[in-house]
Amino acid sequence: MMLRRWMAAGLVAVATAGALGAVPATANRPHDPTDRSLRALALRHKLHIGTAVDMAALTDPADPRYRELVREEFSSVTAENEMKWESLEPTRGNYDWGPADAFVAAARRNDQRVRGHVLVWQNQVPKWLTDGVADGSIGTAELREILRHHITTVVSRYRGRIWQWDVVNEAVSDPWDTPSTLHYKGFWAEHLGPGYIADAFRWARAADPGALLFYNDYNIEAFGSGNPADDKTQFVHDMARDLLAQGVPIDGVGSQGHLGTQYGNYDPIQVADALHRFARLGLATAFTEVDVRSRLTDGVQAGDPEEINPRLQASAANFHALLQGCLAEPRCLSFTVWGFTDRHSWVPGWFDDPPEGLATIYDEDYRPKRAYHLIKADLVYAGPPYVLPRVAPKPRR
Ligand code: G3I
Repeated sequence: MMLRRWMAAGLVAVATAGALGAVPATANRPHDPTDRSLRALALRHKLHIGTAVDMAALTDPADPRYRELVREEFSSVTAENEMKWESLEPTRGNYDWGPADAFVAAARRNDQRVRGHVLVWQNQVPKWLTDGVADGSIGTAELREILRHHITTVVSRYRGRIWQWDVVNEAVSDPWDTPSTLHYKGFWAEHLGPGYIADAFRWARAADPGALLFYNDYNIEAFGSGNPADDKTQFVHDMARDLLAQGVPIDGVGSQGHLGTQYGNYDPIQVADALHRFARLGLATAFTEVDVRSRLTDGVQAGDPEEINPRLQASAANFHALLQGCLAEPRCLSFTVWGFTDRHSWVPGWFDDPPEGLATIYDEDYRPKRAYHLIKADLVYAGPPYVLPRVAPKPRR
């Protein structure tokens, strides 16, 4: 199709082959100069490159390339949906572990670390729970107990097999919400108050002393005004600082990294600065859900290279800015893309008016895009003194 042809024509040929053969041994294992995967190159910096995994695609016999690329290019994986509450406990008391177990088993076979996603979030909560709260049959005390039980059950089942848990996800409002002053938003804050956040971390720690416990959110890639009333990054920073001051076992803050080429976005220096400020609190960081979408204008859909190529370049520049920022901060442990191919991306299904897409590092036919080559170049050409190996944190008690 026209669109795909022009995307392929827009690919840049990054001349990395010579340099790739010259890279030094990794900290974890000897560097294999023939292994030019993202995962091998990133492990030179003790950085894990991850992807969200769509289990339907991973288990589709007709889509072997998806499985190959998950295995070959990534050393960390996140289940896109299978570890969310509505997937795990569709009816009360009946956990369906099948898909999540299969996901964790596949990660183990592929020698991949797992980011557990997600324990507490206001979306994809089972209907029996939201209905029960709405009709008054589940009161506040019972709701808190249900949450404790869920966290304990899930974290215990996968104890020792999860590297980083997203314990609480997207708890903070955005400036476009009402009221516009930033606040704790959503189902859990409305029904339990913001104290559920500290509770959730404590319950998760009790169930797995070895996992790194993360708070995860979007629109926190860089600091803004510095006023927590309108600067979400500052709000999250101050929240994490206060949790630490209370002795809450939070180990890290995950920055999702859902960007769009139509926005202003960030440069690597701003991104590194934000990560440094979280690190100064004593926290690990990670990019957890990176994708960079674009408007699918009429011209893009018609295959016009003058409309497509600038978007591919802008998308690549944003992946690059986030990865360079992460490389510059030794406590930035992993860089996860939220799907790696436009064939399986949440973006077109969610942003359809106006339509958006082109958000990932491979096109729909699994051809690497400019973004893939640019982040590969970042991994190849980075090194001391500005890029040092990652510092592995100890889970906080
Ligand atoms: O499982 C049902 C299936 O039975 C049904 O036939 C189908 C019909 O639409 O829907 C399926 O559920 C969909 C689910 O993905 C699994 O594919 C939901 O409709 C759809 O809403 C859901 O979207 C997910 C979204 O979270 C839900 O909030 C996306 O795949 C997933 O990429 C997205 O991920 C979130 C992160 O967890 C948190 N940060 C933001 C990120 C993007 O929204």
